[in-house]
Amino acid sequence: MTVKIFDTPEVQDFLNTVSGFDQAGGNERAKQIMHRLLSDLFRLMDDYDVSAEEFWSAVSVLNALGNGTQFGLLAPGLGFDHYLDMRMDAADRERGLLGGTPRTIEGPLYVAGAPEAEGFARMDDGKDQDGETMWLTGQVRDVDGNPVPGAKVEIWHANSKGGYSFFDPTQSEYNLRRSIVTDAEGRYTARSIIPSGYGCPPDSPTQQVLDLLGRHGQRPAHIHYFISAPGHKHLTTQINLAGDPYTFDDFAFATREELVVPANRIEDPAEIARRELDGPFSEVVFDVELAKTDAPELQHRHARPRAKEDEQDQHSQLAGTAKV
Ligand SMILES: [Fe+2]
Repeated sequence: MTVKIFDTPEVQDFLNTVSGFDQAGGNERAKQIMHRLLSDLFRLMDDYDVSAEEFWSAVSVLNALGNGTQFGLLAPGLGFDHYLDMRMDAADRERGLLGGTPRTIEGPLYVAGAPEAEGFARMDDGKDQDGETMWLTGQVRDVDGNPVPGAKVEIWHANSKGGYSFFDPTQSEYNLRRSIVTDAEGRYTARSIIPSGYGCPPDSPTQQVLDLLGRHGQRPAHIHYFISAPGHKHLTTQINLAGDPYTFDDFAFATREELVVPANRIEDPAEIARRELDGPFSEVVFDVELAKTDAPELQHRHARPRAKEDEQDQHSQLAGTAKV
């Protein structure tokens, strides 16, 4: 038996009451958004004849996601992070802020306060024996092709097992996290290790939701970036390494054509010696183009909870099995 009650005055009055419309206190925007959200969900329950059993199993999944601090992992899987990017891209187009390397999702695993270096940094602590040596380098330029010296290039990535320092307690502090200031030619260089792709934990509530959609929870090998310089738009982006089976099938929807970069294996002894390495390595070149802007609010990353970004330790909010 299907019942339809959403449009009745009783339900509409009830939604107004639940959303606090008859109360003086609270936040007006929160009331409006909650009213819309509940209205959409109530209507959905009518349209799909959602049973009490289905509703309470959804509550269980939400509780499990919260317990495992996995909302930050499911959000990109359900496309929210990419949708925010699409909206910011559209806003940039409306402002006439064109050009530059495309943005893509940040993910939940940035940690503020990584060691800073000028021009060059070694990012790995040398303990990951399975990691192929990576020589990661590039030039930061403006949209007219001029080098941007003094740009801050923040890089973070996973180890050969797909884990991130801070969230993975087996790694040393700030392993595979560095902040590199570009040299006089706008160049940055890092010695590190090739990261591995990874998947959502198979028995996690995030994977449970993806399973219902018939989807995998795998990400390709990737490297995260924040790039900023005065007078330029802050860029949040990441590169996906070419050739990974998931390069164009990322569960988090971070891949963009312009951000797929090859890792070129180099075995020439002269090239190895020039970089003072002890064996063959893979070189990854990622040049970055920054759009210009005078608007101060566009020159900084947007606010969100990030590990160690303020005095309050947010480890408990951010830790867990989240890997994006
Ligand atoms: Fe990641």
